[in-house]
Amino acid sequence: MFHGNSDSQKMKNVDSKSHVRGESVYLDDVPLLEGTLFACVYDSPIAHGKLKSVDISEAEKSKGVVKIITAKDLIGENQIGGILPDEPLLADGEVHFCGMPIALVLAETEAQAHAAAKLITAEIEPLEIITDEREAQAKGKLIAPPKHFKLGDSDKAFATCEHVFEGRADVNGQEHLYIETQGAYTIPSEQGGMKIYSSTQGPTAVQRAVSRVTGIPMNLLEVDVTRLGGGFGGKEDQANAWAALCAVGTQLTKKPVKYALHRMEDMRMTGKRHPYSADYKIGLDKDFRIIAYSATFYQNAGAACDLSLPVLERTLFHCTNSYFIPNVSATAYSCKTNLPPNTAFRGFGGPQGMFVIESAIAHAAEKLNVSASEIQRKNLIENGDEFPYGQIAESEAITSWKQADEKYDFAKLKAEADEFNANNKFIKKGVALMPICFGISFTKTPMNQARSLVHVYTDGSVAISTGAVEMGQGVNTKIAQVAAKVFSQPIGRVKVHTTNTLRIANTSPTAASAAADLNGRATQIACETILERLKTVAEEMLKDGAYRIESSEISEMRHTQKDGVTFENGFVFFNGEPTSLDWLLVVNEAYNQRVSLSEHAHYATQGINFDWSIAKGHPFAYHVYGTAIVGVTVDCQRGIYEVDYVKCCHDFGSSMNAAVDNGQIEGGIVQGIGWMTMEEIFYDKNGRLRSNALSTYKIPDIYSVPKEIEILPLQTERENLAIFNSKAVGEPPLMYGIATYFAIRKAVKAFNQENLPKFDAPFTPEKVLINLYGKIGM
Ligand code: MTE
Ligand code: HPA
Ligand code: MOS
Repeated sequence: MFHGNSDSQKMKNVDSKSHVRGESVYLDDVPLLEGTLFACVYDSPIAHGKLKSVDISEAEKSKGVVKIITAKDLIGENQIGGILPDEPLLADGEVHFCGMPIALVLAETEAQAHAAAKLITAEIEPLEIITDEREAQAKGKLIAPPKHFKLGDSDKAFATCEHVFEGRADVNGQEHLYIETQGAYTIPSEQGGMKIYSSTQGPTAVQRAVSRVTGIPMNLLEVDVTRLGGGFGGKEDQANAWAALCAVGTQLTKKPVKYALHRMEDMRMTGKRHPYSADYKIGLDKDFRIIAYSATFYQNAGAACDLSLPVLERTLFHCTNSYFIPNVSATAYSCKTNLPPNTAFRGFGGPQGMFVIESAIAHAAEKLNVSASEIQRKNLIENGDEFPYGQIAESEAITSWKQADEKYDFAKLKAEADEFNANNKFIKKGVALMPICFGISFTKTPMNQARSLVHVYTDGSVAISTGAVEMGQGVNTKIAQVAAKVFSQPIGRVKVHTTNTLRIANTSPTAASAAADLNGRATQIACETILERLKTVAEEMLKDGAYRIESSEISEMRHTQKDGVTFENGFVFFNGEPTSLDWLLVVNEAYNQRVSLSEHAHYATQGINFDWSIAKGHPFAYHVYGTAIVGVTVDCQRGIYEVDYVKCCHDFGSSMNAAVDNGQIEGGIVQGIGWMTMEEIFYDKNGRLRSNALSTYKIPDIYSVPKEIEILPLQTERENLAIFNSKAVGEPPLMYGIATYFAIRKAVKAFNQENLPKFDAPFTPEKVLINLYGKIGM
């Protein structure tokens, strides 16, 4: 439990003041050194082809151009693939997607770099372009062999089922649309080293990629991340290319190089959430218990692996969402297409897996003429049930469902919609429920470690560095809270500094919602270690009777008890009695006694493991649960819709910061709604992105957020492995948004009973309109 001294529940984000004043430092706010060059990429206009030649002669003559770099100029390896070596930094011999970097222009100004890049041409002999994941799979174009999950015997079980339904579900990708685009700034340093400012979630990933393409050892490369204007997974791996390009520029010119992508460059050249196509089969008994489920997932990986394989794995981990199904068989293909390599995006493949099972349940409900929520409720995973990957559930699925129902009254909300629909011909309401269950930990066990470096200075102030990157999710606030709580100091005395690979080495990216857990617990260990030393010093100071407050009656015997010293609000207490010693006096005495006021601590999550040879284990430290109910109104003449409310009961464990956590829930829900409704990525058959600007790609704005978002914290006393029991919150709420799709579907069906729309997200107004007036059979 978090019992902070300083009103932690209402604690503001430590960055709110500097954000509002425009004083927070992002990549673009780092002051530029004299002589800085500006970079711009010339990228492939064709999605697949043989790169015969590149003509840079006109560009070289262009004003301000200092150097143009192609693959042959690289000193190190032309490779940035983190998991598989299948991603050249600059195209060499072949281009694999529209937007693939071919040449790098360095010029004296940004405008000159952009102008020169336009003068480059390439001779490319076209090869077959594949954009569809099923076509890629059929042609054997896979990133790696398929992965399987199996529990029980689904083939046998289907034969015993009363009801069996089969179908297909498709779900599109999503553009990250972080407000701050990708970028980096590299500055030469001694011995051929470099300082690299990068807008990345993974400073160590950047350091490794730069080392690889330049051949410079990692100990000469300092990566510094001030903060991000959003990442959402898009900068877990894909920040590497821009840092690597700048670094190559610095290596070859000995000058600082800056590249901050323009929005359309970013949209065109970077990967997105993976689109999936899936086939499902669901079998129920006469009481609507799901006895068997099988699914085949086709993931559109794009032209290189990037993070596609762990994303694919998480799709399997979450393919049964919050349900216990005794017989499961799931297969997943990572399909290689000629699109920019797709990458991490909030939920990391989990939401796609969940969409498919929710489609299967909706399909069954529609055919059986029962409410989907009846099937959902009957099959929620219980304590002690086994997930298809072998972990035993410590489930809050039913508690969150019940508490949400008690507070919001599902039956009443549905009845209100039914009554409305009976009385309105051209406006229809729909209501849908979405239970969620999301595993917390990197599914690759070794990544679940973190470090924290804590210094206490002689003025009593505290400076912290960790591997966590602040990207708006509030991790710095939580880490500062940890130190403030352990030291019993006001949070204003604590500063969490930039993420820097010289201060903290070998970091895992800030991802998997685990940054506060991992880095927070490392910080807790570091602070507690320093605190123990300070307590020993304070004890010595109290021994000779000094600092004793007149009224207190501290006996000699009690003096010898080591745990007698506590710090509260900056003052020292002994066995609960006040003394005249305070934080500053003890800190300075520790310094004088040459006791270390710094600590570098390491934390690794205990008890997790996974064995891919049998696809079983205990991969997650814990799960986050919750239940949401979403209500929508559809205008059946225009196909447009509004989200009336999202009401959820969410499993925070015991939130250490309600303001930050509620913000994550609201943001996650809106991002989930955007994915399910209006955000439509569109590549044409030639692999060219048509939704390549904010005029053709719509994300939720203030007018399209739900009219009401209600959040009920789940009441539970269960212990967990989260920092101070405050469960990870970054990704799970996005999945509440999935209910929006099914709520719209219900409203559409209320208008046009005969239609069974395809499961094909997003449900754009255009598709809604087609389905309102069409008779598309499922
Ligand atoms: N919230 C904001 N404001 N900006 C972001 O980029 N990224 C999300 C989530 N919330 C993100 C965000 C993603 S994808 C993850 S994995 C988590 O934050 C990462 O941070 P955490 O581990 O501290 O929760
Ligand atoms: N989540 C997010 N990012 C990751 C993971 C994960 O499980 N594994 C590797 N990178
Ligand atoms: Mo989040 S998709 O794990 O960066």
